[in-house]
Amino acid sequence: MIPVSEPLIGSREIEYVNECLQTGWISSAGRFIEEFESRWAEYCGVKYGVAVANGTVALQVAVECIGLSPGDKVIMPAFTIISCAQAIIRSGGIPLLVDSDPRTWCMDVKQVREKVEAEMKSGDGKLKAIMPVHIYGHPVDMDPILELAEKYDLKIIEDAAEVHGAEYLTGRNTPTPLWKKCGGLGHISVFSFYANKLITTGEGGMVLTNDPVCADKARSLRNLCFRPEQRFLHTDLGYNFRMTNLQAAIGLGQLERLQEIIDKKRWMGKAYTERLRGIQCLQLPVEQSWAKSVYWMYGIVLDESTGFDAVQFALKLKEKGVETRPFFLGMHEQPIFQKMGLFHNEKYPVTERIARQGLYLPSGLTLTEKQLSHVCDTVKNVLDDAR
Ligand SMILES: Cc1ncc(COP(=O)(O)O)c(C=O)c1O
Repeated sequence: MIPVSEPLIGSREIEYVNECLQTGWISSAGRFIEEFESRWAEYCGVKYGVAVANGTVALQVAVECIGLSPGDKVIMPAFTIISCAQAIIRSGGIPLLVDSDPRTWCMDVKQVREKVEAEMKSGDGKLKAIMPVHIYGHPVDMDPILELAEKYDLKIIEDAAEVHGAEYLTGRNTPTPLWKKCGGLGHISVFSFYANKLITTGEGGMVLTNDPVCADKARSLRNLCFRPEQRFLHTDLGYNFRMTNLQAAIGLGQLERLQEIIDKKRWMGKAYTERLRGIQCLQLPVEQSWAKSVYWMYGIVLDESTGFDAVQFALKLKEKGVETRPFFLGMHEQPIFQKMGLFHNEKYPVTERIARQGLYLPSGLTLTEKQLSHVCDTVKNVLDDAR
């Protein structure tokens, strides 16, 4: 079976982890944590990094740092992981959904504008933030979102969990366009370092921000809101969301060869596109002129005319030794949110279609050219057999 993703652990990670084991620095203190935080923040062009246990809790901390009051609203995409919506809900907020752009599968920024303007007209003053989520390695079109945030004093919580090293061209309609790293565009941003990410720590996440107050709050929330001056006196409720030195050691080793990892992913994206381009009934990932994608996962969307939905197609590929994963299911279609009375009767047609018809192909760092060719041949054969 060709796996959908496999981590690639190098000798540097082993060397650093061995150092932790030999010196006994195996919990959440030790040199690798701070080094990983500062190196990752610097790479993304941001001042402060706060390493946490995973991307889901990074989102929760980020939303708490923004500080929502009960009933405050946050605009987010329907097409994403549940971690985004639950971070808002757990902070007492209300997620407002928008559909996806049919080409990039990221949030449709025209709909964001419409939603922001409708909220401003309503005059209830409850809209506080926008949560753009970069999808499968491709950036959201951030300029319109940055403008809206500036104009209406909204916070941007940037979910960069899937785009380590991806870049976005800010100010493309100005005389001074500038490429910036994803994760360096919002007021606060989050990453995941789960095992299938471009950089992994096994499980892990990080919150990035330029705001020292937010960074302090994130550090405090991560560590049970212990107070530096009197350890067991608490004036706030926090969590144990700490990352271990062992995890950070792996992350630092990975970070040292990030460019190599990005090059491999970009090669993979191009190689898949070259081989699959001629198949009419498949929609392939795009790369907009203002984006440098890192092709975290190579997604395809099947036309209904194939007679397959993603589940049926994935089964056929699995029978032939190719593992895949389905796309996200929209937030408005999640039974838990329906039970909570959220998103009642809301429709997001692009999200619904790509959730039903989309899946991603093997995209791991261990994928060889031979395996990639085999995956493409298998995709073609399954489609040909169905004709
Ligand atoms: C967009 C997005 N945000 C957040 C997360 C949550 O990260 P984690 O799995 O580390 O909790 C993921 C997970 O893959 C994700 O894809």
